Amino acid sequence: MQKVPPSGIRKFFDMASGSEDVISLGVGEPDYVTPWHIREACIHSIEHGETSYTSNYGLMELREEISRSYVKRHGVYYDPEEEILVTTGVSEALDLAIRAITNPGDEIIVVQPSYVAYVPSVIFAGGVPVTIGARGENDFKITAAEIEAAITNKTKAVIINYPNNPTGATIGKDELEAIADVIVEHDIMMISDDVYERLTYEGTHTCFSALEGMRDRTIMLNGFSKAYSMTGFRMAYAMAAPEIINSMMLIHQYSMLCAPITAQVGAIEALRNGEEEVGKMVREYDRRRKLIVGGLNDLGLDCFNPRGAFYAFPSIKSTGLTSDEFAERLLHEQNVVTIPGDIFGDTGAGYLRCAYAASREDIKEALDRIGTFVDGL
Ligand SMILES: Cc1ncc(COP(=O)(O)O)c(C=O)c1O
Repeated sequence: MQKVPPSGIRKFFDMASGSEDVISLGVGEPDYVTPWHIREACIHSIEHGETSYTSNYGLMELREEISRSYVKRHGVYYDPEEEILVTTGVSEALDLAIRAITNPGDEIIVVQPSYVAYVPSVIFAGGVPVTIGARGENDFKITAAEIEAAITNKTKAVIINYPNNPTGATIGKDELEAIADVIVEHDIMMISDDVYERLTYEGTHTCFSALEGMRDRTIMLNGFSKAYSMTGFRMAYAMAAPEIINSMMLIHQYSMLCAPITAQVGAIEALRNGEEEVGKMVREYDRRRKLIVGGLNDLGLDCFNPRGAFYAFPSIKSTGLTSDEFAERLLHEQNVVTIPGDIFGDTGAGYLRCAYAASREDIKEALDRIGTFVDGL
């Protein structure tokens, strides 16, 4: 446990708590309440007395909807009987995936800047995290060559996440195909965290397991938190070959038993009738994205075009401050919460994560304050 430091993000929330007039571009959480039709389906389910455990794998109806949704969006089929496991958040799915495949001492390559849970999850599983950094000069897309350079005979898998937290980067099909070749050549696996998939504003998202030969080498993770604004429901799923899902299910069976039934009912409703609301939210995130990226660039903070998720990742190198100094002083002097980029990995040094899951008014005000702060340096 001593190898795992507490999340660096927490510090900034603690510093901000209690202060008034704070604008937060800190949290990676949608600012919308879950759409009403989803909440209503959950309320009806409770009214009808649906309060029991479900199958360890999750409700069959939900697994069937998940399966259908992947066929529809990506043309890849997973058998709801044995290739889909419903979990309490991608957080649980990630932990199960790593634990299911990692022998003590196995190396797991973590592509950074990354979501803060990846490295600790590998350590908790007795694995060795090998971090590699996607570079700002390449718009934070990792290359096949960079992955290949980190592979040893102990490598078990690679974890990628596009659209990416914290950078908002996406990656193209060609680049993923080159990575797939490396995965095959070295006989390893891919864990693909696609939780921001639906929040893709430019280009189309490529599902890694839909690439030739990748279906049985990939553990696909996806969930409802971001697209459907359902973070508190803790609803997600993993999809993989039956033997992998079975191993993950064994851990899940003894640690979690099953995901909450009410949340599963909400997820069914989201998949069946949620498209319109997702579309509305995505369009609004896109407006905010253009506002914040344009605004940051106008202030002289060079910001590449993030094509997905809800994060802008401007460079603050021109100010001469470190990411930590910039974020801390911005909070103290202008009451704006942002997160230093190096919390997410070394190549995030000199950058700042600004979540734009905030109203346009707040984003405009935050940009004004960041401008005042930068002018005063
Ligand atoms: C990349 C990434 N993966 C997973 C998660 C956790 O998602 P969930 O709410 O499904 O546990 C997050 C949450 O911020 C995330 O950014």
